[in-house]
Amino acid sequence: MRVIMALFVLLAFSSVQSRRTGQRGGRGRGRGRNRMGAIKRFVSECVEYMESREKYLDCQDQQLTIVPISWSRDTFHLLLARNRIQGLRDNAFGQFPHLRSLDLQQNELTRIEKQAFAGLDQLTTLLLQHNGLHTLSEEVLLPMPHLRFLRLYDNPWHCKCSLDTLVRTLQVPSNRYLGNYAKCAEPPRLKGEKLKRIRPELLCPHLEENILQEPQDDKVKIKFDAVDSCHTYMFPTPLLDCQNRGLTNVPAGIPPDIVKADLSRNKIRHLRPKEFVTAKDLRSLNLSSNGLDGIEIAAFNGLLYLRELDLSNNSLQHIQYGVLEDLYFIRRLVLGGNPWVCDYNIHYLLYWLRLHPGVYHSGLVCQAPPEFAGWTVRDYVRTYDGKCPEDQMSGQDDFGGEVLSETMKQENGILLGPRRGRKTVKGMRLS
Ligand SMILES: *[C@@H]1O[C@H](CO)[C@@H](O)[C@H](O)[C@H]1NC(C)=O
Ligand SMILES: *[C@@H]1O[C@H](CO)[C@@H](O)[C@H](O)[C@H]1NC(C)=O
Repeated sequence: MRVIMALFVLLAFSSVQSRRTGQRGGRGRGRGRNRMGAIKRFVSECVEYMESREKYLDCQDQQLTIVPISWSRDTFHLLLARNRIQGLRDNAFGQFPHLRSLDLQQNELTRIEKQAFAGLDQLTTLLLQHNGLHTLSEEVLLPMPHLRFLRLYDNPWHCKCSLDTLVRTLQVPSNRYLGNYAKCAEPPRLKGEKLKRIRPELLCPHLEENILQEPQDDKVKIKFDAVDSCHTYMFPTPLLDCQNRGLTNVPAGIPPDIVKADLSRNKIRHLRPKEFVTAKDLRSLNLSSNGLDGIEIAAFNGLLYLRELDLSNNSLQHIQYGVLEDLYFIRRLVLGGNPWVCDYNIHYLLYWLRLHPGVYHSGLVCQAPPEFAGWTVRDYVRTYDGKCPEDQMSGQDDFGGEVLSETMKQENGILLGPRRGRKTVKGMRLS
């Protein structure tokens, strides 16, 4: 039969420490299980096994809402059926470059970004049946040249213009096993028609109707026109200069070719989700001196290539859980001049930095609570580990991973006994 190796796959985060133990297989599993009660919602248990020399990662029925993180990159088959995943972000499977099959059936998917399957150039089977998808662009399929089996049935497909490219692709004769049995749910006149058979012209009957339909799709509302209100320069790098313009919002319609955007010295207090989605090429973003005090999750969505982010001289006390996840290629974070509060809420930022050692950052100094005011965050974290001098000496970076995970656990109220014994914990949520 198959060798079953228990593996805890972290939902979102893992310290370097847990990475090491995770690879050691089932060691300490019992202890982890005992704690499952307390941290159940945050830790998922996936099972990894080999069959016919191919590695499977089985995370079915785990109530997952996002794609789990795995440290083994050689997974061939990823089973995510019957979870609660609602959307797939660009590069959602970047850590599974060798996948041959991906089972996402019976989730709650309604949204799949165009590059969600980027990098899956070996994938042959993709199962998306029994979800809530109503549209999907053909572009989503482009990164998967070897796709042979695609299941799309039992999704409420809206047979209108936005589905046109997908339908035409499915109908190419060589794509015989792509999209069989999938049917239109809307509009009423096309209900029940099969995507494989429907005449593509019916999806887009009049040009006028297309234009009317467009705005229904998840479009950014134009609040402000970046090009009218700010200066743009094309040389030497395409720059949008909105410095000191009294802006209270991120201007809409940042042109997609802009590489550098300077929004410093304005009055943008709050960043809402998807403020920068049009600025696909942005490498550098300056939000310094705005009085910023809140950044919502997905605010940086779409800034896939951002390398430099200046958040200095604002009113930030912490960074909310999840906010930095969209910044795949960030290299420099300027954080000084903010009233960082060194308590539980700062841990997401610390943890994220620990997991991204290539990110140069500056200015992370506690301003509160009073007992830590003026401390660097590194020193704040070390206070939790006074008993273990060897870690202090080895901690070259801002905060050693072990030191930090100790902090987390204490604040989670999970008492783990002697520190060498706690290596069995594989993950926890930070907020
Ligand atoms: C951002 O703008 C501020 C002032 O407008 C400037 O001092 C700072 O150097 C800029 N940051 C970056 C990373 O260019
Ligand atoms: C910090 O921001 C405030 C406005 O929020 C501004 O008045 C001040 O000049 C800025 N300080 C620096 C050093 O840029």
